[in-house]
Amino acid sequence: MTADLRTRYLGLELRSPIVASASPLTGDPAAVAKLEEAGVGAIVLPSLFEEEIVGEEFELNRSLDNGAGVFAEALDYFPDPATFSGAGDRYIARLEQIERQASVPVIASLNATSTGGWVEYAKRMQGAGADALELNVYRVAADASKSAAELEAADLELVAAVRAAVTIPLAVKLSPYYTAFAGHAGRVVDSGANGLVLFNRFYQPDLDLDSLEVANKIELSAAWELRLPLRWIAILRPQLGAGVSIAATSGISSGADALKALMVGADVAMMTSALLRHGPGHVRAVESEMRAWMDQHEYESVAQLRGSASRAAVANPSAFERANYMQTLHSWNGSR
Ligand SMILES: Cc1cc2nc3c(=O)[nH]c(=O)nc-3n(C[C@H](O)[C@H](O)[C@H](O)COP(=O)(O)O)c2cc1C
Repeated sequence: MTADLRTRYLGLELRSPIVASASPLTGDPAAVAKLEEAGVGAIVLPSLFEEEIVGEEFELNRSLDNGAGVFAEALDYFPDPATFSGAGDRYIARLEQIERQASVPVIASLNATSTGGWVEYAKRMQGAGADALELNVYRVAADASKSAAELEAADLELVAAVRAAVTIPLAVKLSPYYTAFAGHAGRVVDSGANGLVLFNRFYQPDLDLDSLEVANKIELSAAWELRLPLRWIAILRPQLGAGVSIAATSGISSGADALKALMVGADVAMMTSALLRHGPGHVRAVESEMRAWMDQHEYESVAQLRGSASRAAVANPSAFERANYMQTLHSWNGSR
């Protein structure tokens, strides 16, 4: 028996639940070819950032304004808006290239915190052939005068604006830092998301004691980081409609990790750090580990496995909630 790894995500039929999440790897056509060859189910392109689009529009306007009415010949030096190629155009060109080459679904990604004209890029991504869109809402709630309710309302407005711009499926990648996460997740779905990607990983700045500057250094994830999405997917899966997709991201590096994510209710298990560490071919090892475990435990398909350990399915649902807290503390025996 060989287990059937097919799954459905955002209404798309995927040959495997292993999805390469947004990273420089998925923006590289050669690496995408290797990911496909290794069996990946879909790829999420690296994000196009709101700041990149807004920044390039600002630069374009500034260079046009600076020259206005100065020297007639200077007009030649300024970019023609129709041919000006900035980050947004480059992104769309890369998306088209990868779409043409890939036989698995390609999900484009926008990273933003506010609504604005840049939302039009969602439309351009759809026009370039993206099979779905992932909106990464990466916000640090740093303004002491703003309430959680205000910031959450702004997020929902953003989701609704992107939803209104496209007809392709929309997933929203969220951080866990909301005061009442389950309720907010439900409202994100009500605002038009077809799926949730849990969780966005926040990169914490460090201090460099030599330069006395803030050091922004990216760390790849560790295995323990999967615990947070595992808990929340288990809690949310029974509460979200069956038609709402869930992707697990953070800390998935092995077949065992991916199986856990599916069992608590995810439709796909996303990977970045493990692929950056071990290369695109790692997908093959992960899938064969999954198949071996499924065969051994007599699971025929991902469909049979999915959600079998969600909060609604396990014998002790409170293990995902507060009751777990006391037992976890009491489980310390000094030997670890
Ligand atoms: C180098 C690097 C670049 C990334 N770029 C993006 C990005 O452009 N957009 C995004 O939504 N996530 C981005 N991520 C986050 C990953 O997609 C993923 O959600 C995160 O790394 C957690 O998954 P992992 O534990 O498998 O690494 C990036 C991560 C890394 C390490």
